[in-house]
Parts: sequence; C-alpha cells; structure tokens
Amino acid sequence: MRPTLALLLVLATVSCIGPTAVLDQTTSSLGPFTDPRAIAGEGADRAPPAIVGGTLGVDGDLVVVADPDRDRAMLVRISTRHVTEIALPSGSEPTRVAIAPARSAFVVLRGTGEVATIALTGSTSVTRRWVCDAPRGIAYDPRTTLVRVACQGGELVSFDPSVEGAISTLALPFDDLRDVIVVGGAIVLSRFRSAELVRIDPEGNVIVRAQPPSMPNDSGAGGTTAGRFVPSVAWRTTLGETAIVMTHQVALDAVIEVDARVASSSIERNAPPSSPYGGQASPVRCGNAVVQSFVTHFDPNTLAVLSSLQIPVGALPVDVTGWLNGEGVVVAMAGVQQLSDRGTAVQSFALMDATGTCLTAMPGVQGAFGITSPIAVALAPDGRVIVQRRDPALLAIDGVMIPLGGESVFDTGHALFHVDAGQGVACASCHPEGGDDGNVWHFSDTGARRTLSLPHGLSSTAPFHWNGELRDLHALMPLVFTARMGGAALDPARVDQVGRWLDTRPTGLRTPGAIDDASTRGRVLFEGRAGCASCHAGAMLTNATTVDVGTGGAFQVPTLAGVSRRLPLMHDGCALTLEQRFTDASCGGSAHGAQDLTTLEIADLIAYLRTL
Ligand code: HEC
Ligand code: HEC
Repeated sequence: MRPTLALLLVLATVSCIGPTAVLDQTTSSLGPFTDPRAIAGEGADRAPPAIVGGTLGVDGDLVVVADPDRDRAMLVRISTRHVTEIALPSGSEPTRVAIAPARSAFVVLRGTGEVATIALTGSTSVTRRWVCDAPRGIAYDPRTTLVRVACQGGELVSFDPSVEGAISTLALPFDDLRDVIVVGGAIVLSRFRSAELVRIDPEGNVIVRAQPPSMPNDSGAGGTTAGRFVPSVAWRTTLGETAIVMTHQVALDAVIEVDARVASSSIERNAPPSSPYGGQASPVRCGNAVVQSFVTHFDPNTLAVLSSLQIPVGALPVDVTGWLNGEGVVVAMAGVQQLSDRGTAVQSFALMDATGTCLTAMPGVQGAFGITSPIAVALAPDGRVIVQRRDPALLAIDGVMIPLGGESVFDTGHALFHVDAGQGVACASCHPEGGDDGNVWHFSDTGARRTLSLPHGLSSTAPFHWNGELRDLHALMPLVFTARMGGAALDPARVDQVGRWLDTRPTGLRTPGAIDDASTRGRVLFEGRAGCASCHAGAMLTNATTVDVGTGGAFQVPTLAGVSRRLPLMHDGCALTLEQRFTDASCGGSAHGAQDLTTLEIADLIAYLRTL
C-alpha cells in the first residue's frame, strides 16, 4: 500500500487523552522554560549524553527498553506491566536494540564499543562483546542467525551470538553509518548526516544507493523562495511491513537573509514571530523553518522512494514506527519538551496529507500521547503505540503510563540544547548529538559557513563561529537561540548550563585510527617542518586565534579533534576529503602551513590527522 499520511506524535494536552489514559501530572516533564530546576539553572550531577533516539525493541508481549541516560536496560511485559531492570556498566550508553525472538536481546553500548546480549529465557544473564569503536545500528538476521552492527567509522561487524567473543569485520568504503537493516539476503545501511541508504551484498559490494528527494523552497524559508531543501540527518531508519521507513531532516540550500537587526548581538527581547531559522506556517508547507522534518518510505529492494512527507511541527524526529492501522506512522519528536507555556495552542496530532495540505488533527487515531520529549516509539503486535520518555523515565503503551523509575537526569543545558526553541528548530537540529550536520549554510551577511562541530571541552576554544566574533556563549545564545531561532531570551545562569553541558557531556567513544609508521611520521611533520602546531596546538589542537591562511579572510583556527570523521572541511566546506585540504590550492589556503610538502609527506600528515 502506498503511504498517504504521516502522523506526528507531539505533546498532547490532557483533553486529548483518551478515556483509558492515565496522565499523572506529577510525572510530566515541564521542559526547559517552566521546570523550576531549569529556572534555577540546575544541571545534573553527571551530564547526560545527547539524545540519540530509537531505543526500543519489541518481541511479542515483551518490550526491551534501552536507557542511555541511566546505563540500564529494562524488560517490560505489555500484558502485566511487569518491569525487570538490568544494570549495565556506568558510561556504557545503551542505545539501539535488536532481538532474536524468544531468545536474546542485543543492545548497542555506544560508550564502550560493545554489544550487550541479554538472555530472554530463564535468567536474564548479560554478556558483553566488543564490536568496534563507535557502534551505532544493530539488526538480527533470522536467516543466518547473525547479529549485524553498523559502526560510525564504516565497519559492518557480524557475529554469531552463540560463539563467545568472536566477530568478523567488513571495512566499507563509506562511513558515518547509522542503522542497519537486513532485507532478504541483502543488507541496507543508512548514513547519518547525508541521509543516504546503501544496499550491499554480504561481501560488501554496493548494489544501489538512494537518498530522500530534494524539495523546492516554496515556503519562503530563510526569507527567500530561491533554492531548495536537501536531505540531511537521518535520525532513524527501520523496516516496516512493506517499506523501509526513514525519519530525517532536510536543510535549506539557499542564501538565508540575516538582517542587521538580527545580526546584532545585543538583542534582549524575544525575537519577532518570524526569525531567520524559522517562522510562521506557510500556505504551502506546514512551517518554513530552515531545517524541516520528513518521513520517507523506500522500496526495500530497489530503494526507490515511495513517498516523502513533511512532519509539520516540532523538531528532532528521532524515531519512527511502521504502519499504524494502515493510516500512517508515528514519529517521536524529541524537540517537543514542554507542555504549552508560550501561550500557543498545544496540538495533539498533526499531519500533512498526500495533497500537501497541512492538517492539525487526526480524527480516529486511538491512544494519546501526553508525553514530552519522547525518544523512541514502537508498535506492539496488536498495533498499540509504545512511547519511551527520557525523564522521568516511563513507557506509555496506548496512553497508559508505566513508570520505569531511576533518578532524574534533568539538566538545563541538555534541555535547552534539544528543545524546539519555538519555530521548529533546536540546536541539535544542526548539531545532532552535539556534533554537526555536515551542512554548508549560506548567510546573507557572512557567506558560506559549514556547521561547526561542538567538541567536548568546547569552552576552551572560544571565541566562537568561523569569524571568531562571538566572545563566548553569552554572546552566542542571544544571537542564535533568541534572534535566529525565535526562542525565549535566556538569563545568564541558563546560558552557563548550556556551556557546562557541552563541556562535560559524554561523547561516546573516541575513534582514533591505528597508530602506524605513517601517522607517527605525520605527527613529527605536523609538530615540526610542516608548521601546523603553531596554530593547531594544545589539547584541542587550536590556539583559538583568528588568522588568514589564504582562504579568503581571517577565520578561527578550528580544532582538529575528530577531523577525519566530520567531512567536509574548511569554513565553506570546500574540502570534501582530507586530501583536498592539501591538494586543492584554492581550498587548502596559500599560507596554510608549509607549502612545499611532498606527496609522501601529505600522505603521512593525513595518516596522522586520521588518528585525532
Ligand atoms: C541552522 C543551523 C544551526 C542551528 C539551529 C544552530 N547552529 Fe550552531 N552553528 C551553525 C553554523 C553554520 C555554525 C558556524 C557559524 C559561523 O561560523 O558563522 C555554528 C557554530 C556554532 C558554535 C561555534 C563553535 C566554534 O568552535 O566556534 C557553537 C558553540 C554553536 N554553533 C552552538 C549552537 C547552539 C548552542 C545552538 C542552539 C542555541 C546552535 N548552535 C544552533 C549552525 C547552527
Ligand atoms: C597560521 C595558522 C595555521 C597553520 C600554521 C595551520 N593551520 Fe590549519 N587551519 C587554520 C585555519 C585558520 C583554518 C580554517 C581556514 C578556513 O576554514 O578557511 C584551518 C583549517 C584546517 C583544517 C580543516 C579543519 C576543519 O574543521 O575544517 C585542517 C585539516 C587543517 N587546518 C590542517 C592543518 C595542517 C595539517 C597544517 C600544517 C600543514 C595546518 N593546518 C597549519 C590555521 C592554521
């Protein structure tokens, strides 16, 4: 069947809750603008990880819940609501789940590079197996009885769960892997920032690649009707009954009008209703933010696009179900964090139909979702909708709340970073998982600007932005959160909490490349003859100065932390590969370190950069 409707899960008011629902106000999350802890500018004792989403697995009556904030997994019986908690190592950050029916659940541990195998028969014993530096997606293949793990670095790891410790690793010629899906004899991988799908055979040969379609900018996003939206950040890809379902963002590829009023960093009041990154609902689309959320269906075999539908409101589409009653899919919008506090009517559901008309209520959908900040959604075998909330932790099954217990992980900085500031965009829309979306934006005042990644220890790299014009976050937040994103004006204590969270959040495992002879020679060059360390120095590999290296102006020296894993490079994204930083004179810079490097020396420097 051809999908016609995308159903959006967003926060619901009490009046939207169906008769069977139990919404306990005391367990509702109030969000970053109204929670008393946020007003006091509080941070959690241990900074919680950025939202990843997609942390549920279902096996008949059993729901397997991964809780990255509390390093645990839970087994929840739908019929009895019985909850069994399984502790996992501190800092292991459990995320994606796969299940071998009635036998085992497999949980990706991002923080330790492992997969935890939980026995579902008899005792719930747990074993752990190292798979790769940065595991992301996981699937169980019932035909081969192998578990497949997609890793950020471009490895596909397979293992037989009955053989202790053994893994086999296939290095693929593309990285940034996210989810893995087993379709018949083939494997489909999604790539996070490019929203690409790649179908490979078991030997790793690419059979076909696909991407969601580009969309016209007919809504006037960015203050223009020029340009188009290009596919970006694919938060979650799953296999539905008849199609592969991907929930992803699209990003505006056009010059964004940033007028002088908004460019001034002395804004103290709330921004006007239309701001450069977001704005009003438009006659042709359900909103005109520069980042929009979509659900795209692909044919599982050919990867042909079957439909691509806009999710009208909210931000951060971190998880998606298969079909709901043949009518649509449910999407967890993690950016929806608060019950209405801004005087706007809170919608229960919204959808856009096949004609592109934006509707704001979906009649006849059972179950209500009085849940803010949902991080995962799934369907029970009977079609009931299961929703996971972060904090306080709970599972809602068709609107009935099952508390999962555990300490509060409320953190003002985390909340502000992930909230839809008001016009459909969150910080995490462009900095997903605290990193970057790989996009090059075009601003009317500054020109082409690649999104900067936000490394752990960010504050030591101030001042901010490529021009280095923002002294610290107290300069950045009024400009970005309030003026550009249309968010509330924030007091200094809350801005400090954003900085504290960015500095101290766990960022998953580092993925240093292997140290070999070439990278060792590269390091000697970097620190010596090539002259790199005069600017790329210190723990963050930047001296935080703004200098002209011959790339068309003076720019902040960027940190080189993780540089090989966040292409493209340079302020305008001109280097699509590490090589282009050196070999493309117009991109690499005419005064950018030693200019007389040999081909071999460049190869050694690149080998070193891959270890950072
Ligand atoms: C529409 C996409 C977008 C959104 C939304 C966004 N950013 Fe950015 N961010 C960027 C881009 C692009 C840059 C580089 C801008 C420049 O240099 O002019 C950047 C740069 C930064 C930097 C500078 C890092 C450095 O090393 O200099 C920080 C810090 C930052 N963003 C934090 C945030 C926070 C916090 C929010 C939410 C309040 C946010 N961003 C929202 C796109 C975005
Ligand atoms: C004089 C200071 C300076 C020196 C010396 C220097 N860099 Fe840079 N580097 C910069 C600046 C400034 C940029 C950003 C320029 C731009 O984006 O247009 C940059 C960007 C980069 C980037 C891209 C990073 C990103 O996130 O986009 C890489 C990689 C890099 N430098 C490597 C090197 C290497 C290798 C050397 C030595 C051969 C070197 N740099 C020497 C200042 C310097």
